[in-house]
Amino acid sequence: MVENNNLKEHSVAEFFKKNRHMLGLFGKLRSLTTIVHEFVANSIDACEEAGVLPEIEVKLVKLGEEHFEVHVIDNGPGIDEKNLSKALGKLLVGTKFHRLIQMRGQQGIGASGCILFSQMTTGKPTKVISGNNCKSVYMELGINVERNEPLISSKKYLDKEFKGLAISSEFKEVDYQDSNQNALEYLKRTAIANPHVTIKFLDPFNKMFVFERSVNVIPPKPLEINPHIKSVDTDTLLTNAKSSDAKTVIGYMKDTYDRVGDRFFEDLQKSLGKDLNLKDMTKKELDWGKSEKIVKAIQKTKTISPKTDALIPISEDSLTLSIKNILKPEIFYVLTRKPTTYKGGFPFVVEVAISYGGNSGRLLKDGSVKSEIMRFANRTPLLFDPGACAITNAVNSINWKRYHIRDFENEPITIIVNLCSVHIPYTSVGKQAVAEEQEIIDEIKLALMTAARQISNYISRKMKHGLKLERKKMFERYSYEIARALEILTGTKQAELLPKIEEIILKKLELEEEQEQKENKEIKEELEENVIDEEKKEETKTGKLKDKKLNEFSEE
Ligand SMILES: Nc1ncnc2c1ncn2[C@@H]1O[C@H](COP(=O)(O)OP(=O)(O)OP(=O)(O)O)[C@@H](O)[C@H]1O
Ligand SMILES: [Mg+2]
Repeated sequence: MVENNNLKEHSVAEFFKKNRHMLGLFGKLRSLTTIVHEFVANSIDACEEAGVLPEIEVKLVKLGEEHFEVHVIDNGPGIDEKNLSKALGKLLVGTKFHRLIQMRGQQGIGASGCILFSQMTTGKPTKVISGNNCKSVYMELGINVERNEPLISSKKYLDKEFKGLAISSEFKEVDYQDSNQNALEYLKRTAIANPHVTIKFLDPFNKMFVFERSVNVIPPKPLEINPHIKSVDTDTLLTNAKSSDAKTVIGYMKDTYDRVGDRFFEDLQKSLGKDLNLKDMTKKELDWGKSEKIVKAIQKTKTISPKTDALIPISEDSLTLSIKNILKPEIFYVLTRKPTTYKGGFPFVVEVAISYGGNSGRLLKDGSVKSEIMRFANRTPLLFDPGACAITNAVNSINWKRYHIRDFENEPITIIVNLCSVHIPYTSVGKQAVAEEQEIIDEIKLALMTAARQISNYISRKMKHGLKLERKKMFERYSYEIARALEILTGTKQAELLPKIEEIILKKLELEEEQEQKENKEIKEELEENVIDEEKKEETKTGKLKDKKLNEFSEE
C-alpha cells in the first residue's frame, strides 16, 4: 500500500526541470542551438502571423567557461503586457497547441522551457522587452517551479518606442563550437527555408553574419482548420462535445469537424446500422459506449479528404532563389509535391531539392566534401537526432547509384527536405525528428526520386568527364616512361614509339567510352522502368495500386 506521506503532486515545470533532456536541453552544443532555435522559431511565427516581414537579430556573448548570454530581437507584434509573463513564464501555455494550423511552434513549451533552463543553470531571470509601436514594457521574469507560475522580479515601462520582442537570457552548461550543428548552421538553414526572413547573427567571436532576404513577400497566412473526422477517437469525440453549443450530436459534429455534411451522416448511419440512431441523438445522450460505436463506424464510412489549402510550402520559386543565393550550385532541382494526408486526418506536403556542386555538401576541415541532408519541418531546420528521423531514413533508403550518384556519402550534394503540416508528428517534445509515418516516407521518396532523375544525367556526364581527363593524364604521364623503357629493351627510338603508344591509349579510351555508353543505356532503361508518372501516383493515392506501388518504387 502507498503511504499517504509519500504521495506528492508535481507541477509540469518540476517535471521538465528534472527531464530537461526531453526539451532538447542536454549536451553543451545542442542546448545552445536549441535555445536559439526556440526563440528564433517563435519570432518568425509571430511575425508571419502579424503579416510582418521578419527581421531577426541573434547575438551570442561568451561570459565565461560554458557560460553564454543569448539575445534574440525581432520586429514582430510582441506579446501584450497582460499575457507576457504567462506566455513565457509558464510551461504549456501558448497560442498554438490548441489550433490545427501550420506553425513552427506547437506545444507551448519552447521559450518557457529555455527560461526555466536559464534559471536552473544561472539562478537569474530572463530579461524581456515587448512593444508594438507604443511604449514598451520591460520585464525580468523566471518561473515558480513548484507552481508552474511566472515570477516577475522587475517590471517597468520604457519611454522608447519599440516594436517586437527582445529576449536576453543567460545560460551555463552550454557551449558554442565550430560544428554543423551550431547556431550559425541553424540560422543558415533557417535562411534557406525562409527566403523572406533577414537574419543578422553576431557569433561569440564577434563575427557578424548577415542572411539577407531574397524574397520581399510574406508567405500567405496558413488557414486554421478543424480536425478531420477520420482523426477523431472515442475520448476526443466525447470530450469535444462538452465545449460545443449545439444540442444534437450531429450538430456538434458539423460544427467541430472538417468535411462532414448531410451525405456523410447518411453513410455513417448506414455503417452504424440499427444499433444506434444518430438522427435525434442529443449531446447529453452521448456516453463512452455510444462514442466508441460512432468512432468505429466513422472508420468504415467514406469521407472527403481533409482540406489541404491550410498548407503553405516554401514554394519551388522561393526555394530556387534561396538555393541560388546560399548554395550557388552547378545544378539543382526543386520540387513541391501535391498535398496529401497521413493517419487519414492530417494534411501534409513535402518539398525537396537536390543541389549539386558550388557550396553544396558539407566542407570538412581537411578540405574534402561530404553529402549533406538538410531536414526541415514547417521550414524549421532539424539539426539533431537524424538517425531517428523519417526524413533521414527516406533519403537513405534511396538507391542513389541508380541516379548516377555512385558514392552518395562523398559527393558535393545537399538534399533538402521540408515537411509542412498542421501537425508535425515529432518523436518527442524536443522537436528534432519526425516519426516514421508511412505516408510521409512514401511522399519523400517519390519526390526525391523524381528530383534525382532530373539531375542524374548532368552528374553522370560531369563525373565521367572528370574521370576521363584523369585517366588520360595518367596514360600520358606513363607513355613517356614506357617509351623510354621500350627504347632500352628494343633499341627503337622513343620518338618513333611515342605516337604508337598514344594511338593505343586513344583506342583504349574509345573502347571505354563505348562501354560507358552501353552502361548508360542500361541505367536509363532501368530508370525508365522505375518512372512513376503522375497518373500512376494518383491511382496509387486512391488505393487502387497501393500494394503494387510500394513494390514498384521500393528501393530497398
Ligand atoms: N517572439 C515572439 N513574439 C510574439 N509572441 C511570442 C514570441 N515568442 C513567444 N510568443 C508567444 O508565447 C507563446 C509561448 O511560446 P513557446 O515557445 O513557449 O511555445 P509555442 O511556440 O507555442 O510552442 P513550442 O513549445 O512548440 O515552441 C507562443 O505560443 C506565442 O504566443
Ligand atoms: Mg515556440
